[in-house]
Amino acid sequence: MSRTVVVTGGSAGIGLAAARLLAERGDRVILLGRHERRLTAARESVGAAAAIRADFADLGAVRRAADRIDEPVDVLVNNAGGLYGGTTAIRVNHLAGFLLAHLLLDRFAATGRIVTTASLAEAWGVLDVDEPLRTTRSRWLAYGGSKQANLLFTREAARRWAGRGILPVAFFPGLVRSRFAGTSPLFVLGKPLYLSPARAADTLVWLATAPPGELAPGGYYFLRQPFFATPRSTSADRARRLWESSLRAVGEGDLAPER
Ligand SMILES: NC(=O)c1ccc[n+]([C@@H]2O[C@H](COP(=O)([O-])OP(=O)(O)OC[C@H]3O[C@@H](n4cnc5c(N)ncnc54)[C@H](OP(=O)(O)O)[C@@H]3O)[C@@H](O)[C@H]2O)c1
Repeated sequence: MSRTVVVTGGSAGIGLAAARLLAERGDRVILLGRHERRLTAARESVGAAAAIRADFADLGAVRRAADRIDEPVDVLVNNAGGLYGGTTAIRVNHLAGFLLAHLLLDRFAATGRIVTTASLAEAWGVLDVDEPLRTTRSRWLAYGGSKQANLLFTREAARRWAGRGILPVAFFPGLVRSRFAGTSPLFVLGKPLYLSPARAADTLVWLATAPPGELAPGGYYFLRQPFFATPRSTSADRARRLWESSLRAVGEGDLAPER
């Protein structure tokens, strides 16, 4: 039976490459993206079942997008993100996915899975886990903080949502030749050396499809192998505090409680 996989950031780069591979395997793919033309082109090239446009900087748009997903979800690929400064980094790269996962919680299949695209950039990130919207002006530090948040979310979701049968995992895709960080001259300079989006998507697709027994709940991977993260991204206390502050930031009132 075909599975339903929701891919955020499915209009370009790693998400698009993964969506193609998943659709080729027979999954029913629902793409989320922000840029209308890229999203339409992605839908056609993937043969996706649906394409939903939402700017993740706007949490209201995330709620409207979730309303349009009215079928059981097997896998949420929590991948949308970019190099943003100020509060946009944490809003787009963490809070939007955190909110979407909560809104889809009751729609997850009995063995649901959440695969989040994190980054080595967590190592130098700045994140106030009690007030995630209090952030630094440096894009790279704010970005790294949002990637700490991705790993802390994955760890805490594994603890809170195990009873729901949900398996959250995260991965570092490597340095990838995508549209990411196109406004950062130093990053762009190295692009010829980086991985192709399809190569980076290999680990994502593996995490989305491997038998559950092969994966550690809350685990972090690179090139299909367990990967190291700094204590700021693995601390159980920081994970718990970020979860509570993120609930406040997205407006916790109507979100389904954990079991
Ligand atoms: N490239 C790397 O070297 C690298 C390394 C480590 C981690 N990552 C992570 O990998 C993930 C995917 O990035 P990528 O490399 O594939 O870059 P990409 O080619 O720029 O793709 C990013 C995707 O995220 C979507 N997105 C960005 N901002 C959004 C917003 N405000 N609202 C909704 N969607 C938004 C984009 O949508 P539109 O195209 O429709 O705007 C696009 O589909 C990100 O989380 C990034 O942090 C990338």
